[in-house]
Amino acid sequence: MSKVFYITTPIYYVNADPHIGHVYSTMIADCLARYQKLSGKEVFFVTGTDEHGQKVEQKAKSNNKTPKEYADEISQHFKDCFGKLDFEYDRFIRTTDEDHIQEVTNLWKILRDNGDIYLGNYEGWYSISDETFVPDASVIDGKDPITQEECKIFNETGSRVIRTKEENYMFKLSKYQSQILEWLLIDNPIIPEHRNQEMINFVQDGLHDISVSRKRTITEWGIDIPDDTTSDILKSNDFSPACEKGNPSQHVIYVWLDALANYKTAANVIGKYIFPADIHVVGKDILKFHAVYWIGFLLSAGLPLPGKILAHGWWLAKKNKQELAVKMSKSIGNVIDPNVLSAKYGNDVLRYVLLRESSFERDSEFSEENLISRLNSDLANTLGNLVMRCLSKKLNPTGLVPKPPSEQYLNEIDNNLIGSLNKTIKKCNELMQIPDIQNYLITLWNFLFEFNTYITDEKPWALIKNNPERFSVVSYNMLEILRIVALMISPILVNTSKKILDFLNVQDRRGFHLLKYGLLEENHIINTDVPILFEKVELDKK
Ligand code: MSP
Repeated sequence: MSKVFYITTPIYYVNADPHIGHVYSTMIADCLARYQKLSGKEVFFVTGTDEHGQKVEQKAKSNNKTPKEYADEISQHFKDCFGKLDFEYDRFIRTTDEDHIQEVTNLWKILRDNGDIYLGNYEGWYSISDETFVPDASVIDGKDPITQEECKIFNETGSRVIRTKEENYMFKLSKYQSQILEWLLIDNPIIPEHRNQEMINFVQDGLHDISVSRKRTITEWGIDIPDDTTSDILKSNDFSPACEKGNPSQHVIYVWLDALANYKTAANVIGKYIFPADIHVVGKDILKFHAVYWIGFLLSAGLPLPGKILAHGWWLAKKNKQELAVKMSKSIGNVIDPNVLSAKYGNDVLRYVLLRESSFERDSEFSEENLISRLNSDLANTLGNLVMRCLSKKLNPTGLVPKPPSEQYLNEIDNNLIGSLNKTIKKCNELMQIPDIQNYLITLWNFLFEFNTYITDEKPWALIKNNPERFSVVSYNMLEILRIVALMISPILVNTSKKILDFLNVQDRRGFHLLKYGLLEENHIINTDVPILFEKVELDKK
């Protein structure tokens, strides 16, 4: 059975509605999934929501809802938003799904039966916002991001930490230190490269065992520990499935072990070879959970390790003009609603701008001014004009594709353009294998400039009147290269690509063999007079 290309996104906490930062992770994965499909591969793409834990429990309570009611509501908002953005995922997983609860329970039993789980105690700091235990060395004085009260915060995220002392089940992460290190050193699995080094340093500093349960007295909203030996009769107004069954455990499984296991649950598709992930897309803030903890759990369970982990930077935004841009987040109040931007500018513009403006190496600042300037220059001017020229009625009066020119009719200028096209296809493919979407777009747009220059220099509007033989060559090149460009933009500009290919009346849209000059046939019928693809926006009229 051949392996399905498996791509995942983080699953999102259901404590607040989606913002640009969230949809960005799923957008990257959607783009990579579409590229793999374009290349002809079978793909399985999973996204979803992370619903258990103290943070969601507290948020539900403050909204006078049960955690499940609250999770149902917010999870639906994510699903609706991803639907509006046309993400083409194969499963939207929720950690409250029955098969997931079963998978997590099984995984726990495997880790436990391997002797990797033991009962211990944790005394130290906990960040509810990040659902993470924070070592003393990472705690600094700061201000609560919501109330501005002076308090202790986690230096990596700025979230408030609280002191806790709890009995926990622990996982023997330290036992896997050398295997994790070896994987990081040999496979170099993390993109960008400097993040691989960060993880190597982290592991080399020494791995400690980690807590993998929370005491039910602290949070009840989680999956029960199977056969919890510490169990006694609890008097709780409990939400967990096991309690409903009258079999409460004193602990629930730590939300990160629960969440990470989603990648295994989703891959349990009968008749398909999906697991492990070829690529996990995550934000840099949750890299350690994926590159170290998840790997430890997999090694303990004897499961194969993922191919790559792509850790992207954050979207920053200003709360108001005077302030510096900081990580977009609901609690800070600088979030941008993807639903609003998609309704205002369309999905393709949003996708292009988010993917073009951000490199995975660094954080990026979001502003509507930048969006508009990219829309006007790259989309309306460069791509929009190119398409209008290629598909104009004036240049295609018969609506029929001319004969593919044989070599003797191609001059040096044509050959340069075709050579450049072939180099672009090759380079773009290499970039997507890394993956590096920003440079994919930069490379492709450099080619579009060349393509536009070719048309300007060759003046087909003059050739059609005074040199029909040469016109036929230039016209063929314009239509055929446009076909290939339309395929290459398809992972990013999904709708625009469809429109262009519909106008070109091209049905074959899947497979790398299509990225080859010379496939459009003579007398193939096309539609002309394509409507304006991207309307320019005046900056002050936004
Ligand atoms: N539930 C965990 C992930 C579990 S995966 C097994 C979680 N959820 S989250 O909702 O807080 O974040 C989900 C993703 O959104 C993370 O990859 C995070 O980096 C990303 N982003 C949240 N805010 C962001 C920005 N402002 N910018 C870019 N991405 C950020 O962590």
